[in-house]
Amino acid sequence: MNAKQILEKIKTTQAYMNYSRMWPFVKPYWFRALLAVLICIPIGSLDAVIALSLKPYMDLVMVEKTVESPWYIPFGIVAFTSIQGMLNYLATYLNTWVGGKITNDLKFELYKKLLTFETAYFDRKKSGDIVFRFNNDADTACAGLLDNLKTFVSRLFSSISLVCVLIYNSWQLALIAIFILGCAFLPLAKIRQRIKSVMDKSVVAGSTIITAYNESFAGNKTITSYNLADYQENKFKNILHEIFKFKIKMIQRTSWLSPMMHVIVSVGIGIAIGYGSHLILTKQITSGNFVSFITALIMLYTPIKNLGNNFNSVQFSFMAIERVFGVLESNPRIKDKPNAVELKTIKDGISFKDVCFEYIKDKPVLKHINLEVKKGETIAFVGNSGGGKSTIVSLIPRFYDIKSGSIKIDGIDIRDYTLKSLRANIAVVFQDNFLFSGTIKENILLGKEDATEEEVQKAIKMAYLDEFVATLKDGLNTQIGERGMLLSGGQKQRVAIARAFLKNAPIVILDEATSALDNKSEAIVQKAIDNLMIDKTVFVIAHRLSTIQNADRIALINEGVLAELGTHEELMQIENGKYKNLYNMQFRVQKETQKTPVTV
Ligand SMILES: Nc1ncnc2c1ncn2[C@@H]1O[C@H](COP(=O)(O)OP(=O)(O)O)[C@@H](O)[C@H]1O
Ligand SMILES: [Mg+2]
Repeated sequence: MNAKQILEKIKTTQAYMNYSRMWPFVKPYWFRALLAVLICIPIGSLDAVIALSLKPYMDLVMVEKTVESPWYIPFGIVAFTSIQGMLNYLATYLNTWVGGKITNDLKFELYKKLLTFETAYFDRKKSGDIVFRFNNDADTACAGLLDNLKTFVSRLFSSISLVCVLIYNSWQLALIAIFILGCAFLPLAKIRQRIKSVMDKSVVAGSTIITAYNESFAGNKTITSYNLADYQENKFKNILHEIFKFKIKMIQRTSWLSPMMHVIVSVGIGIAIGYGSHLILTKQITSGNFVSFITALIMLYTPIKNLGNNFNSVQFSFMAIERVFGVLESNPRIKDKPNAVELKTIKDGISFKDVCFEYIKDKPVLKHINLEVKKGETIAFVGNSGGGKSTIVSLIPRFYDIKSGSIKIDGIDIRDYTLKSLRANIAVVFQDNFLFSGTIKENILLGKEDATEEEVQKAIKMAYLDEFVATLKDGLNTQIGERGMLLSGGQKQRVAIARAFLKNAPIVILDEATSALDNKSEAIVQKAIDNLMIDKTVFVIAHRLSTIQNADRIALINEGVLAELGTHEELMQIENGKYKNLYNMQFRVQKETQKTPVTV
């Protein structure tokens, strides 16, 4: 093998690949990282000095007794230990500093990546998965890498210098020792494949436990009201059992390594002592040589005995690195085209042409939808639950991309606009809007970060929040708890509407924004929504009659098909029409109850 081939071979090794992938993250701190590694060289090499100095001590002090004042020896020991200690401190400090910086950068990159992923990515993943892959793996990857680099470098130099001490004392013994050392490395080759599958499974199990905690937190009320404590406990117990099982499996597959090293090492020491004694007796080496040799040998072998554990942690960190870069190198499916244009504002309208869509391959959810919506028009979607209403509107801000056909705004396919500008032109209010922990004001300002105080006040007024806010001691600066827990359903909706109002986007999407509310809060939220709809192009999905009656046109979606389209009057004309049926079944009842005045 020539040098080039060797280089190629090194380049394809796992260690090289992983370290080189990490390089961009190490680069900004290369100087301190290098310093941290360089410091490990004297730390390692100083080991040999202790072993080496035993020879003259043994020979001159103990055997020949020719030294006048042996006091320099204890001083020497203390001096060396102090230097080594100081260097160790520096190395640990630098390592932690560099490691902390790299971990932060890696986590930041991962987080940035996380935010670029499309809705479908989050549909597939569980919350525990996200925490594990984006947080824990970054920690494992960096911690393992740097610790091991430090250990590796100091051990390498410690080994080199100790081997020199061995050879200096007796080259015959040194040969034996090094040969046996080589044998100790053989079992390492096997271990990787054996732990890979267990490792992958234990990552999955580890992420399930985080999901379990998250669900217990978010679903706390459901758990309490359905008396699900036993059920949850059982589920949790099973997860714990799974994790335990994998832990044990991992130990079974890896922990034989260290004892095996112990045995191999003891064979080495045994042979060295046996043969060494023979060499002393035949006066080929001095007792000093022998003591120095054995000390060096034990010092050399000690880290090797633990190599098993070390090796495992390297493997863990390598596998974490692979997962981390798997995420970093994956591409979000919904992203800007290279020559995407800005959507400034909407001039003509939005058109759906022969739009087909499916979440899961070959399970069509929307079939050949054709729809033209003019600027300023309000279009209401009605139809059976599960028919595809939410799906249609979620295609406009590109939460998902369509399978075939096209959706155009002002004649340009929405996939040709930049995602940012497209989404800036759309305000969405869902049935259950996500509010962030923080104050009411902070949440409203998310609609427009640089809004003036006047704009905020107007948004609050239009969202019918002003009276409520006035009753609060801290007003707009009231904390609303995680996910807005401290607000009622109607208040949460109105905060979300104020947020949408501030965004002032020309396209408004309302997906059953009032259907989770009781009559009283619904009436006031509906008024807020009416304000939000003024002068906008609106797509509204509603179960309520009033919204539908106010719409310019109604689209009836049934099983993914746009079955009927027209004004209320037009659709009511259709003999045996689906809308007519729905109206008679559902909305007429509402009309009757509506006669009782609703108080606000
Ligand atoms: N994220 C998703 N992944 C897979 N299938 C989905 C997803 N969201 C909705 N669906 C399915 O698509 C169909 C239409 O759902 P949806 O548009 O929410 O109906 P609607 O809003 O009319 O009640 C349903 O059969 C539903 O089960
Ligand atoms: Mg829906």
